[in-house]
Amino acid sequence: MEEERLMDGAVLAEDDAQLSLRPERLKAYIGQAAIKENLEVFIQAAKNRNETLDHVLLFGPPGLGKTTLATIIANEMNVNIKYTSGPMIERGGDLAAILSVLEPGDVLFIDEIHRIPRQIEEVLYPAMEDYVLDIVVGKDESARSIRVDLVPFTLVGATTRAGDLSAPLRDRFGVLNRLEYYDEADLNLIVQRTADVYGVAIEADAAVELARRSRGTPRIANRLFRRVRDYAQVKGNGRITREMTDLALGKLDIDKRGLDYIDHKFLKGIIERFNGGPCGIEAIAASIGEESQTLEDVYEPYLLQIGFIKRTPRGRIVTSEAYAHLGMEMLHQ
Ligand code: ADE
Repeated sequence: MEEERLMDGAVLAEDDAQLSLRPERLKAYIGQAAIKENLEVFIQAAKNRNETLDHVLLFGPPGLGKTTLATIIANEMNVNIKYTSGPMIERGGDLAAILSVLEPGDVLFIDEIHRIPRQIEEVLYPAMEDYVLDIVVGKDESARSIRVDLVPFTLVGATTRAGDLSAPLRDRFGVLNRLEYYDEADLNLIVQRTADVYGVAIEADAAVELARRSRGTPRIANRLFRRVRDYAQVKGNGRITREMTDLALGKLDIDKRGLDYIDHKFLKGIIERFNGGPCGIEAIAASIGEESQTLEDVYEPYLLQIGFIKRTPRGRIVTSEAYAHLGMEMLHQ
């Protein structure tokens, strides 16, 4: 492995070990104000009517808090949550097994729901709509379908690619929420909260700098925080100062806008090999040796958000803002 990929969408073991970092209640959840406000109303209404919450779809780039929100929904509804993911559901039986152990009102969280195979997706439709499962037993001429009743449940689906969901599946969600990148003020609060949870002192301008270089993403803010904390502990006196933050992020090749070496490779690849674009995602991925899916799901959304890349009908182009940014930062060439 060339280098630790701090920006990758993948969840590291370390992220999962930090469950205490995740807020457990809506009140403690920072940012995503519109989603929070809506969920608060829908949860309260369902509770008042003694009903199960409608199915919820959460979509948006990785690391913005989809799993955290699912857990909060279960906590606020006072029910259990079971976690699974699209790639773990290979056969209809996998879905039946997990649906049949739910207690009334429970939340079933399916991460990467767009990766459920299409035929198995169809098992979900009656489960979501009528809380029943149609299981096919027997083979060929003797094959028949048995209907099994389920308890009412809330499906919370998460995906980075809402466009990849089939229309019938998308239509069965009552609540659709798109998570947005966090602004620096909210990320600053998240960094401060993380420092509190870990019991580490952080100077105000260090928190601002971490927030600025976290690509609008709490998961990245928390990962960078841990690396800066390591530096502060070993090279300093444990206190996270602005100087220590700059030192650590510099060592990690995170630039002033939070871009890493893959972002640089991506932008410079388009500039140098495609004359700034337009070029297709497959062509640029092949030329820099990265997966097109990772570029599309993880790297490109943030570069689009900050206006460093534009999508045109003929492909991606690098903007003058990106040229200016790279011009100031040609150190790693
Ligand atoms: N930690 C990670 N994401 C968070 C959020 N949105 N609010 C509070 N703490 C968080």
